[in-house]
Amino acid sequence: MMIDQATVDRIIDTAQIEDVVSDFVSLKRRGANYTGLCPFHNEKTPSFSVSATKNICKCFSCGKGGNAVHFIMEHEQISFVEALKYLARKYHIEIEERELTDEEKAAQTARESMFILNSFAQEQFSRNLFDSGEGQTIGLSYFHERGFRNDIIKKFQLGYSYEQRDHFCQTALKNGYKKDIVIKTGLGMEGQNGFMQDRYRGRVMFPVHSLSGKIIAFGGRILKKNDKMAKYVNSPESEIYHKSNELYGIFFAKKSIIKQDRCFLVEGYTDVLAMHQAGIENVVASSGTSLTPGQIRMIFRFTQNVTIIYDGDAAGIKASLRGIDLILKEGLNVKIVLLPDGDDPDSFSRKQSAADFLSYIEKHQTDLIRFKTNLLLEESSNDPIKRASMITDIVRSIAIIPDHIVRSVYVKETSDLLGVSEEVLLAEINNYKHQNIEQELSQKSNAQPRAAVPEESKTINSQTESIAPAQTSTEQVRLTIFDRYEHTVIYYLVKFGECVIFEYVDEETNENVSLRVVDYIKNDLENDEIKLNNPTYSKMFEMAVDGANKDNFISSAVFINTPDVSISKIALDMIAEKYTLSKIHTKYQTIEGEKERLSELVPRALFELKDAILRYDIKLINDNIKKLSVSQDINGVFGLMNELKEKNELRTLLAKELGERIILPR
Ligand code: CTP
Ligand code: MN
Repeated sequence: MMIDQATVDRIIDTAQIEDVVSDFVSLKRRGANYTGLCPFHNEKTPSFSVSATKNICKCFSCGKGGNAVHFIMEHEQISFVEALKYLARKYHIEIEERELTDEEKAAQTARESMFILNSFAQEQFSRNLFDSGEGQTIGLSYFHERGFRNDIIKKFQLGYSYEQRDHFCQTALKNGYKKDIVIKTGLGMEGQNGFMQDRYRGRVMFPVHSLSGKIIAFGGRILKKNDKMAKYVNSPESEIYHKSNELYGIFFAKKSIIKQDRCFLVEGYTDVLAMHQAGIENVVASSGTSLTPGQIRMIFRFTQNVTIIYDGDAAGIKASLRGIDLILKEGLNVKIVLLPDGDDPDSFSRKQSAADFLSYIEKHQTDLIRFKTNLLLEESSNDPIKRASMITDIVRSIAIIPDHIVRSVYVKETSDLLGVSEEVLLAEINNYKHQNIEQELSQKSNAQPRAAVPEESKTINSQTESIAPAQTSTEQVRLTIFDRYEHTVIYYLVKFGECVIFEYVDEETNENVSLRVVDYIKNDLENDEIKLNNPTYSKMFEMAVDGANKDNFISSAVFINTPDVSISKIALDMIAEKYTLSKIHTKYQTIEGEKERLSELVPRALFELKDAILRYDIKLINDNIKKLSVSQDINGVFGLMNELKEKNELRTLLAKELGERIILPR
């Protein structure tokens, strides 16, 4: 379903922020503004502020907020379109829907039918569990024996599937559900000579809910010990279920994850249930596999802090540590806690109160890098060769952390743990990052153009976001490579554009000049004739420069109030990007907030962008040198060698300038 732009505008214009917020937060008037307790994190003194005149809200403690649509999206954890619909209902605005194409309609109906059938199946399975003799004696008594309470069984909509081989299929068909939908969801399978058979037989049933609470799949657990049969039978991949993008329990956990600003990650269905039963609700399961980027991004929407809870006897810890580097790369703060030998979260949570469980976690969780370092240290204690390779291993983990401040803290920490100087570690990291970017560059520029997809074989899948096509043109390569550097520059522009970073006396006019972040970035980019590659960032840069010419320039307000909601959303995410470092690392180093360190951070961000551009140019020149050498064009090669020399000198100069401008923290 699509909403046309005119209606979108009307909804945003009509919605009064204090009116929208006060449905959820009790607000007190303070002059022109209202304040209340922030709904997005736990607090005792109000730091949530609502500005009726600017029509936005913001928490000064956790940074969340935005206009009315953003508030509803965040509060209800729903999509942009759903938030608009909510507001339209509130203000009795009729929504003009765009007509769907026949293709889209067909795809949507199939998906809708699958959701409806899954929900029907869940009702059947739950009824079997509670109301039938077989269900009670086999299924329900199993849950009770394991100690699960009825309220938890009901909350998670658990159920039971009969042993009869086609009971569900028969019931579904009798109730008018179509055979092809039964097959598509995987609830039934067609056997030889057309007979339908149930996928789940004599199993307790765990429905898997999507982020918004729809049932997208089932897991069925066998009850008796049986070596011949799989312990769990799960739904197949389908149009509504992509296992690698889902997390078990996320629907029931999301509010609590936001409140606690932390997500616990466990292995299985029963671990999630048991922790809920104990009163700990910010928990999800990856269902026995290591985390995927899709799952990480889902967690990221709610928190940056993840604690992975491992069984004490988990054999695969070391293997799964490799998968965890992925989490670091996405910028999450990862902690790890090992349970006592023989316990999993399920058993462990039953042995004590929630408070004791939480304090165990609090006491025993270590951050990932330290965990990894200690683990590797143990195994390589007396072996210098192993030791060297382990240092490389850890250096790699540190190198992929996107935030350089977090990186530098880890460098300090591992340097202490390993007894290796920070300089050596830093040199290794830079070395590795350099190699990496070279690799990234050559992979991307060597990518083969993809064959065109014939029109009729294109499938419509409105839930999963379309996957970007393989990068082909050099232009696209540039875009993806510089994106994260440009992101950082724009981040400082949005969040701190109006803040003064340098003050000096102009030599000609003898006047005091205050250079704001926006001025600094503008001067610096213009001096080096750099245009941002990403069109959105480029537009945002123009907007800030424009706004900076006006009185009372507050950068974040410029972006949040823009009618271009895609930009305001980006800006809002940046504003809400949390600076969790100080909380985590105070033990090792006191670090000032980023606002106090802008005179270091902004030049560094610009430096990193420029350095990436130079590295890219150098790579292109090198490629050309290779080509010209093959064709024995000696003059051409010499010309390029000179260019190369210039670029390399420029890199050194830049680094030196940065070093001189920045007073490094003690
Ligand atoms: N799993 C699976 N298929 C299997 C085994 C495991 O899909 N054959 C997934 C399930 O999502 C399961 C998770 O991996 O929840 C963890 O496995 P395990 O610890 O064996 O299952 P639990 O749910 O913890 O079951 P129980 O405690 O009842 O043994
Ligand atoms: Mn288990």
